[in-house]
Amino acid sequence: MTALSRIVVLYNTDYDAELKLSSAVDASAVEDSARAIARALEMAGFVVQVVGLHGMEVFEVLTRISADAPDLVFNLCESMNGVPTNEPTFAGLLDLFGIPYTGADLAGLAACLHKLRCKDILLGRGLPTPPHRFLADLAAIDDPSLDELDYPWFLKLAHEDASVGITDENLVRTPAALRDRARKMMIEFNQPVLAERYVEGREINVTILGTGATARVLPLHEIDFTAMPSDRPRIVSYAAKWEESHVDYEGTKPVPLRNATPELIAAVERVARGAYAALGLRDYGRVDLRVDRDGQPWVIDVNPNCDISPDAGVARSAAAAGMSYPEMVGAIAQLAWQRIHPT
Ligand SMILES: Nc1ncnc2c1ncn2[C@@H]1O[C@H](COP(=O)(O)OP(=O)(O)O)[C@@H](O)[C@H]1O
Ligand SMILES: [Mg+2]
Repeated sequence: MTALSRIVVLYNTDYDAELKLSSAVDASAVEDSARAIARALEMAGFVVQVVGLHGMEVFEVLTRISADAPDLVFNLCESMNGVPTNEPTFAGLLDLFGIPYTGADLAGLAACLHKLRCKDILLGRGLPTPPHRFLADLAAIDDPSLDELDYPWFLKLAHEDASVGITDENLVRTPAALRDRARKMMIEFNQPVLAERYVEGREINVTILGTGATARVLPLHEIDFTAMPSDRPRIVSYAAKWEESHVDYEGTKPVPLRNATPELIAAVERVARGAYAALGLRDYGRVDLRVDRDGQPWVIDVNPNCDISPDAGVARSAAAAGMSYPEMVGAIAQLAWQRIHPT
């Protein structure tokens, strides 16, 4: 087997259309992230080419890449044609062209983008994830059994990520509040809503590098909510993630996990590894959990191909493990290469 040398960094350029769909994507952020990853790969010693992809020219672009035959595509495409649910489709097209790439495949990306499927898989593997109800449409909101839930519960969009659609109103304490907010979310975002039991407690992020039995858990981080005003819920809302001047931004600082017992760390790592494997994540990913007052971790979100920009959580965890940014990005590429070419 020859060594990994030539890498094409592929990213999506359809952000203008995405912005119109009220997605969190910002044109400059997507481009900056792709450039930073490409620079890091160059510093790690690879020969790198950056390619943008909008959508309908996908066959041309993939035909060209396929003829050029790089050793690996670093797949940063999160949507095509302004539609985020095309993220899995694109991984499928790379497979169709026989182009080797980093990160999860079509099935892994699709399962995580579909929050109900994700929960079905977690539950099928016996992994802890909060009890839920799937509200498929406006009619589902009238279900009388919603009156019997053990409130508080929490609402999220069924096919979104990056905290899109998440505000303080998504923490609901009564059936009336649940119905009112779910209805508004369905109308605003035109998609189903997933209701979950609200887990009061710490929020822990687990970054994992690698695939299968040799996957490695990086130092755990948690959200520090101490600067969150006491009248606001301790959640990572859309504003917390994207609006630097918002109180929620200051109130949700990612920090290294502190004051955790070895038992808690072991339980969190075991559950996160289980979720990573169950959903078919590869090379890198992040599992988010909340821990209840009994110390039980619950998986709330599984993120394949998560943000690996220099200022994102994966880079923070890698730095805590003593890896520089180029080392981390280079390691992801090497892990993908080793997965594709097992010795
Ligand atoms: N069941 C839950 N209990 C408590 N907080 C939750 C729950 N589910 C989500 N949250 C809060 O909402 C945020 C966003 O939800 P998440 O499921 O991670 O969606 P996204 O895919 O948009 O990141 C989480 O970071 C967490 O703060
Ligand atoms: Mg999340």
